[in-house]
Amino acid sequence: METLAVTIDPALDLFEEIERLKRELNAVILAHFYQNSDIQDIADFVEDSLGLARRAEGTEAEVIVFCGVHFMAETAKILNPEKPVLLPDLAAGCSLSDSCPPEQFAKFKAAHPNHLVVSYINCSAGIKALSDIIVTSTNAEKIVRQIPEDQPIIFAPDKNLGGHINRVTGRQMLLWNGTCIVHEQFSERKLRQLKVRHPNAPILAHPECEEPVLRLADHIGSTSSILRASIEMDADEFIVVTEPGLIHQMERASPGKRFIMAPPDHGCACNECPHMRLNTLEKLYLCMRDRTPELMMDRELLARARRPIDRMLEMS
Ligand code: 13P
Ligand code: SF4
Repeated sequence: METLAVTIDPALDLFEEIERLKRELNAVILAHFYQNSDIQDIADFVEDSLGLARRAEGTEAEVIVFCGVHFMAETAKILNPEKPVLLPDLAAGCSLSDSCPPEQFAKFKAAHPNHLVVSYINCSAGIKALSDIIVTSTNAEKIVRQIPEDQPIIFAPDKNLGGHINRVTGRQMLLWNGTCIVHEQFSERKLRQLKVRHPNAPILAHPECEEPVLRLADHIGSTSSILRASIEMDADEFIVVTEPGLIHQMERASPGKRFIMAPPDHGCACNECPHMRLNTLEKLYLCMRDRTPELMMDRELLARARRPIDRMLEMS
């Protein structure tokens, strides 16, 4: 923060400056729902992982500014190899993606040669290159249902999303043992206690949560589907079991409704994604002003990682 304070003139209106740079660069700003509210407010599109991939694929802008985490920016680059992709903070990674190193996964895959590899988009380009189809939490069920029942599947890297898809489809996909540090924090015990105090509040949960938490949910879905449920369900208050950044859009869409965050296991703010929250309005301004950091990727890896993403876009 100190470095930023020195670099940025405090008299600057960062919103105005970012708008000006957007025109100057002919840039589009894509942001995930877990970004800070000010970033969501200045972005051109605020969506879930699938929505952002689609926006990246269809954009006519010359520069993509990606406010999310590394694997999402990689997906935008894979879909636009010729365009610069700028990120506010190159260090914004993902615990789920990190839980599946490509070298180890390649061995796991080799040990199960007759399996189709379906990977959650929350993985590195190296894992995407080893996959047959990519899915997001929005389309995972739909895509898995299109795969013949006698085809064995490896699902990576999220064992919670994979387990959820196994339960709803009746499949027995082989699951890689990865988790999201944010969603595994939610406590079943504390969620039950919260529900006692708010008996009429539906529980909306992301499928990256553990099974005991998901069992309590009235609606399980991706960030965009949780947002939609909060608009469509007839209730005055909701219990939200995902990263709290999403509440900004829920409150905008339904100003009269109340959104209560589910508590994590400890008394910390650890349901905020530490990776997503590395991005700030200041860093967004600086990355556009200085055209850096820019995501650089190996061309051959880009091409190999693109096939399973194209397959996802065809099947979803
Ligand atoms: P979705 O927005 O696709 O539901 O993904 C959630 C997430 O954890 C992104 O990191
Ligand atoms: Fe990764 Fe979890 Fe953060 Fe999403 S919320 S970016 S899955 S660590």
